[in-house]
Amino acid sequence: MRGDHHVAHALYACSMSTKLAPATAVAPAPLLAAEPTLDLQTWIEEVRTLAEKRGAVILAHNYQVPWVQDAADFVGDSLELARKAAETDAREIVFCGVHFMAETAAILSPDKTVLIPDLAAGCSLAASINAEQLRAWKAEHPGAVVVSYVNTTAEVKAETDICCTSSNAAAVVQTIPEDKEILFLPDMFLGAHVEKVTGRKMNIWMGECHVHAGIGSEEIQAIAEDNPDADLMVHPECGCASSMMYMVSCGMLPEDRTHIFSTGQMIKHSRENPGGKFIIATETGIIHRLRKENPEGDFVAANENAVCQYMKMITPTKLLHALREGVYEVTVPTDVADRARLAIERMVAVG
Ligand code: 13P
Ligand code: SF4
Repeated sequence: MRGDHHVAHALYACSMSTKLAPATAVAPAPLLAAEPTLDLQTWIEEVRTLAEKRGAVILAHNYQVPWVQDAADFVGDSLELARKAAETDAREIVFCGVHFMAETAAILSPDKTVLIPDLAAGCSLAASINAEQLRAWKAEHPGAVVVSYVNTTAEVKAETDICCTSSNAAAVVQTIPEDKEILFLPDMFLGAHVEKVTGRKMNIWMGECHVHAGIGSEEIQAIAEDNPDADLMVHPECGCASSMMYMVSCGMLPEDRTHIFSTGQMIKHSRENPGGKFIIATETGIIHRLRKENPEGDFVAANENAVCQYMKMITPTKLLHALREGVYEVTVPTDVADRARLAIERMVAVG
């Protein structure tokens, strides 16, 4: 995964990424298998009653299972959830997402209790670099500015100058003086996309998200050809994000209908275009939210097997258990949190 060399062209990255099974392969297991027999409404009422008793706010990422999204106080992308966590006046935050997101909430709200319904809900991208590796990389590039995607551990954030998310990565990089060398980590596809948008050359860590890396350009192109009236929305973590932009520049894909978006930007764009048709190249959990916000819309998954098993570890049963028992607390040592907070707050200030 080590990558202190420049990622020259995303087409190369595209060809080296692992492919997910095609959409026709075995469908993911039903989300509510092994779940209690409660109906949705009764379950939501119980969740809401317990949350109120605890003084808890429930934050859920756009990839969460439908029931969890429906019970949450707020559903959003990484940046929106970080902002909510920072500004809430609730006593407790129950974070329905993956561990690094709950850690970010704990860092931004050190006076609050942060719970995650399953501590094992990790992230393959965050696992692609640790603090020791980052320290070694920094030592090879003294004076370089470290830009870390929020999909990193608190220890890695503590070694970081400024964080970014998929919705503000280019804006964050544009704040860095031209004469400064940049270490961008850990997602090579997001890094390649940011280079293209900003024109800045960066040293990019060769990490990837196994879910998004597997969404390939050929399958998207085929679906786009079958749905010529659809808008194409591609998450920048996708293995094909930069080659999509290349195809736009060659006229192979329509410029006005091809978008590289964070999950939050996908929701916004679909909401602003009610009833449209959209091809969605990201984790499929977002389609529930897209349908809720734009009920007349038609949403086609670029790959139905793009399912993050870590996000899906937060089940309705585990959320109820978390609220009943007050588990599982996510804490970050104060010295690490204090250093990581600086990098996150700089990001939030960029917008
Ligand atoms: P967003 O910030 O776009 O929600 O992405 C988070 C993530 O984990 C993508 O895989
Ligand atoms: Fe991490 Fe990928 Fe899952 Fe997002 S989809 S949480 S980047 S493993």
